[in-house]
Amino acid sequence: MDSFLIQGGQKLTGTVDVSGAKNAALPILSACLMARGVTTLHGVPRLSDIDSMIDLLRELGCRVERQANANTPAHGGPALNGPLQVEVTDAGQSEAGYDIVSKMRASISVLGPLLASRGKAVVSLPGGCAIGDRPVDLHLRGLRKLGATFDLNGGNIVGTVNGRLKGARMYLGGAAGPTVLGTINVMCAAALAEGETVIVGAACEPEVTDTANLLNKMGAKITGHGTPEIKIEGVDRLNGTEHRIIPDRIEAATFIIAAAMTDGDLKLTNCNLNHLVAVVDQLENIGVKLEEKDGVVRVTRAGGKLKPVELTTQPYPGFPTDVQAQLVALLCLADGMSVIGERIFPERFLHLGELNRMGAHVRKEGATAFIHGVDRLQGATVMASDLRASAALVLAGLVAKGTTKINRVYHIDRGYEKIEQKLNAVGARIERVNEKN
Ligand code: EPZ
Repeated sequence: MDSFLIQGGQKLTGTVDVSGAKNAALPILSACLMARGVTTLHGVPRLSDIDSMIDLLRELGCRVERQANANTPAHGGPALNGPLQVEVTDAGQSEAGYDIVSKMRASISVLGPLLASRGKAVVSLPGGCAIGDRPVDLHLRGLRKLGATFDLNGGNIVGTVNGRLKGARMYLGGAAGPTVLGTINVMCAAALAEGETVIVGAACEPEVTDTANLLNKMGAKITGHGTPEIKIEGVDRLNGTEHRIIPDRIEAATFIIAAAMTDGDLKLTNCNLNHLVAVVDQLENIGVKLEEKDGVVRVTRAGGKLKPVELTTQPYPGFPTDVQAQLVALLCLADGMSVIGERIFPERFLHLGELNRMGAHVRKEGATAFIHGVDRLQGATVMASDLRASAALVLAGLVAKGTTKINRVYHIDRGYEKIEQKLNAVGARIERVNEKN
């Protein structure tokens, strides 16, 4: 199991490339199950979650080939991966096994595509994870509205369609707001259903929009994506196409916060600030300066101390839950008390205890974190737990006095492509060590 050794105190300066969005690439790969012919995807990040999805697609009868990208960027960062091709060669299999689904919840995104294209799907019911329960009741509710039936058999969701799915109008919101992957599952299934589907209470995340854009290139007829009401006119078939994955807004936000915490001067390429309006708004309140020119975003501190803020995570376009842990790390250095409410995943606070080990003063009351800023964090040995909590620990390690050791960095490898190569290329001092155990 790998660990990171991070020497704190380096300012991040230079240029870093943002990878393609993990949370767009995963559902888009699933959607390829519904197309005939070859789909070529550009900007698919090399991540363990993507590798798990590729394994799953191969189990489900797809040929998946990735070409390495030979060219190293001029500014010295790591070469990011080249195009990836997906083609369905055997549509006979429709069972997604426990071992892959238990590792990666996003495997649930094959449910809609399998039902729509093969009339049957067996997907292991995803368990909970470090950030809390991960129910799929809304996915099943929406797919039932289209005519699918489900049984729970030995921990597996067994879905079947009698004939062809039929379009329907539905409300898909839940107690915690819209569901991103639930919206995408229903949108994918509706794309091949008979007649019109209207999803009210749809998730508006850019990753939903990117998946809809991919489907429309395949021949789907989707409108309203990116708004709370998506309309899908079912078609008879979808064909392979070519598509570039949108930039990863969560990775971009993580690097922006890293630049602010280290008081650096960092440029980000492949960064779309239109997908981060709520994050930019809050960071500017805190004292981060962002300038955009010719598609490159430059991040510096606005000067003076970092200011505390109060906010609650929201569905898009609100402040994203996936940036909450990274924001908490930044606010550990603010001048005063910040209050952060976590509305989407109320248990998503495993980073708090580890940050306190580094000298932070944070505490939690229910689904709210109270962060009392300190002058400096101290290096310590800490434990990564989930993807974004682990990213928060890397950020803290970059500014802590002395050395920070982060164990179980496989959590980070799920969602950040070549993170230590990218950060070391702009001044960080991160060493990956392999612990025999
Ligand atoms: C996606 O997960 C992302 N993952 C998550 O990012 C992200 O945190 C989440 O959306 C919210 O933005 C991928 O896209 C692969 P949801 P998803 O369904 O779709 C409840 C990361 O760090 N809910 O939008 O699974 C749920 O419990 C990951 O990259 C139900 O109640 O999340 C939560 O409270 C972590 N019933 C809320 O809705 C359901 O059927 C939002 O969940 C589904 C969800």
